[in-house]
Amino acid sequence: MAAGLRCGAVRICARSKPAPAAPRMATYLEARPAVTVAAVVALLSAALVLFGPPLNSVMQGAFSLHSAHPTEAMEDALPLVRAIVPTLTGEKHKGQAGRIGIVGGCREYTGAPYFAAISALKVGADLSHVFCAIEAAPVIKSYSPELIVHPVLDSPHWEQEVKAWLPRLHALVVGPGLGRDHYMLENVEGILEAAKTRDIPVVIDADGLWLVTERPALVLGYQKAILTPNHMEFSRLHQAVLSGPVDIADTHGSVLRLSRALGNVTMVLKGEHDLISDGQQVLECSLEGSGRRCGGQGDLLAGALGVMAHWAFLAGAEKTNGSRPLLLAALGACSLTRQCNRQAFQKHGRSMTTSDMIAEVGAAFRELFEA
Ligand SMILES: *[C@@H]1O[C@H](CO)[C@@H](O)[C@H](O)[C@H]1NC(C)=O
Ligand SMILES: *[C@@H]1O[C@H](CO)[C@@H](O)[C@H](O)[C@H]1NC(C)=O
Repeated sequence: MAAGLRCGAVRICARSKPAPAAPRMATYLEARPAVTVAAVVALLSAALVLFGPPLNSVMQGAFSLHSAHPTEAMEDALPLVRAIVPTLTGEKHKGQAGRIGIVGGCREYTGAPYFAAISALKVGADLSHVFCAIEAAPVIKSYSPELIVHPVLDSPHWEQEVKAWLPRLHALVVGPGLGRDHYMLENVEGILEAAKTRDIPVVIDADGLWLVTERPALVLGYQKAILTPNHMEFSRLHQAVLSGPVDIADTHGSVLRLSRALGNVTMVLKGEHDLISDGQQVLECSLEGSGRRCGGQGDLLAGALGVMAHWAFLAGAEKTNGSRPLLLAALGACSLTRQCNRQAFQKHGRSMTTSDMIAEVGAAFRELFEA
């Protein structure tokens, strides 16, 4: 165990040597000869036509690439996401709507974990915890009295502390402001393993994706993992896992193949349109946002997704009506982020920042899910 971790740390350190990723994945692909790119491409078109996807036809129409009226059809799809939003009743005790843990925050980056954690609260989580580097903790605490901040990621006692809290958490968001310090990343590997053992949904973003690119086995086959890469992160991960570049003429196919190659983990490729896949189908979320993108928008998405992933599993099969819980969660979080962007842009135009978007979460949520 210790040797394995050390091994990982060495690879993580070796930033000047990008080569090791390829041989490692080559081994993985050899071990699974069925997953060849050609076969998947062939299966993809056939599968989408032949097999009734688990998501109902309304959702399918709303988010497929071929939908002629994505915005109009989106209206029909929203009830499915609405169904997973827990009702607010007096009987609930604190914690039922979600206790979310954000793993990230280091000396250089304190904004990202704050944005993710406060977004989770504003979307509806009861409590938001941040597990960060010792130095980052006082800074993050000073942004908000509403967050619970644990200075543990680079502490020798990280394991006891994180493992004491983990059983109380409903979802983890790993990566915002994490940085690439090898000692911290080594500890984060341990946290990921512990979360998997407890079957907790894990959203992986930013430098968490960098870690997964180095060590894809960390998420391989974990059905409650959701990866949220931007195009750059996606192409690095694609290169590492599938040993080749993204087919830019077929981004949908690339998202599906990468999800499948990682054992059907949920993939959310953020972009002009967000592409979401669970290895079986690809959904597109193209709710109108604005032309303005600000640093930190991805943290809002990640925090919202952490909460919604918990809700989606909590809702149960009756409410999700045959849809995959994480697809609904991803659609919900992507839609919400875009709606926040749009509303904030209407008020602030070019000067819009992520804080302005976060201020819109309540109104955007009502507009989309409570109207
Ligand atoms: C649930 O799924 C069935 C079968 O796909 C469909 O007929 C029905 O309309 C769906 N219900 C809701 C509320 O989406
Ligand atoms: C992923 O999903 C595809 C399509 O449903 C299925 O054929 C494949 O066996 C799944 N892979 C894993 C590892 O579950």
